Amino acid sequence: MDILVVGSGGREHAIIRALKKSCQVNKLYCAPGNGGIACDAECLPVGAMDIEGMVRTAKEKKVDLVFVAPDDPLAAGMVDALQAEGIRAFGPKANAAVIESSKVFSKDLMKRYHIPTAEYEVFDNPAAAVAYVQSRSKYPVVVKADGLALGKGVVIAQNFVEAKEAIHSIMEEKVFGASGNRVVIEEFLTGPEVTVLAFTDGKCVKPMVSSKDHKRVDDGNRGPNTGGMGTISPNPHYTPEIADECMRTIFEPTIRAMSQEGRPFQGCLYFGLMLTPQGPKVIEYNARFGDPEAQVVLPRLKTDFVDVINATIDGTLSELDIQWSNDAAACVVMASGGYPKSYPKGLKISGLNQDGQVDGVTVYHAGTALKDGAFYTAGGRVLGVTALAPTLEEALAKAYNGVAQISFDGAHYRKDIGRTV
Ligand code: AMP
Ligand code: GLY
Repeated sequence: MDILVVGSGGREHAIIRALKKSCQVNKLYCAPGNGGIACDAECLPVGAMDIEGMVRTAKEKKVDLVFVAPDDPLAAGMVDALQAEGIRAFGPKANAAVIESSKVFSKDLMKRYHIPTAEYEVFDNPAAAVAYVQSRSKYPVVVKADGLALGKGVVIAQNFVEAKEAIHSIMEEKVFGASGNRVVIEEFLTGPEVTVLAFTDGKCVKPMVSSKDHKRVDDGNRGPNTGGMGTISPNPHYTPEIADECMRTIFEPTIRAMSQEGRPFQGCLYFGLMLTPQGPKVIEYNARFGDPEAQVVLPRLKTDFVDVINATIDGTLSELDIQWSNDAAACVVMASGGYPKSYPKGLKISGLNQDGQVDGVTVYHAGTALKDGAFYTAGGRVLGVTALAPTLEEALAKAYNGVAQISFDGAHYRKDIGRTV
């Protein structure tokens, strides 16, 4: 098969590496890709949000499958557009991707189908939202923009003043644009966070091995939220008993709910969970692989990825036995100094070989450019240095050993991946 992967980050690099292991794969393309991905696939200059351009390119290159990895093109209907032209595509249609692109939709879905989540209220009027937070005696309170916001649309307000400021910047200053037309204000939950990605064909759901993201930029879970600074898999908090409970109370009910709503979800559904004292609850859904969760989960997949993709698209997942490696995996993200706020680009990266790798680890490129045989920074998250080993301790040691060999001006990474709750 010739396959086109849409996107340009570390997640897409991990998807391409997983596809490369399949003997069913002939040619791999990535649009638009990045400097490191270019070492594993032919990168095509088509933007991830250019739906017409992607359909045209898929036809021109006569690809057998398009894998749409990022949230924005899924929400904008790229899979619908490809399928309408008879092109095979992996990922949910827009009417199902809304489970990520509207928090109001996902919260109302959970309420209607009794899926455990934080208590909440929805507001489309800033004054009403402010009056509501003023009436609350219990803090912190969580303020969330309804729409997509690069993982940054959530504010945990410690008091009324912070909650009011969050409402003002999201709903009036529109720092996330139209994503802030409505807000969800919800109860603050506590407990360890777990990510579970799951393949689903709309009827059957097959959870992958668990993982844990580290969203805050600094050690000790301090500083602003980011897209994710590092991951481990499995998540030590996710016991087989909790997995059974999640299957019964969250995973299967969600797939059934989407199907009953006439929005069958086919693709990878991301369950962001919190293991609260009252049991596991949903913090958020994403309509795609997590980044950098994919970087620790996909390397553990032993079954041919193409077989899993085909079963997900064809509705035959229940017949497939998906196997995973028992190894642990760790990914440490090296980011540009200043991320998630403003940061420089175009800084030379030292320590990578000509394939953008270092010995002993896999370096997934998130934001790099390749120029005259050298790699340069080109994004906030630059590299995801990843290792597999029989134990988490060994995987972390290997990953940090890889990080120590790579450098660029102002490089920032967390030193405590895999060590915090
Ligand atoms: P989200 O974009 O919804 O995943 O939120 C980003 C992060 O904010 C999550 O990973 C949590 O750490 C935190 N968060 C979101 N909602 C809540 C909540 N209701 N209670 C506590 N923390 C939350
Ligand atoms: N790592 C979090 C996300 O992909 O949304």
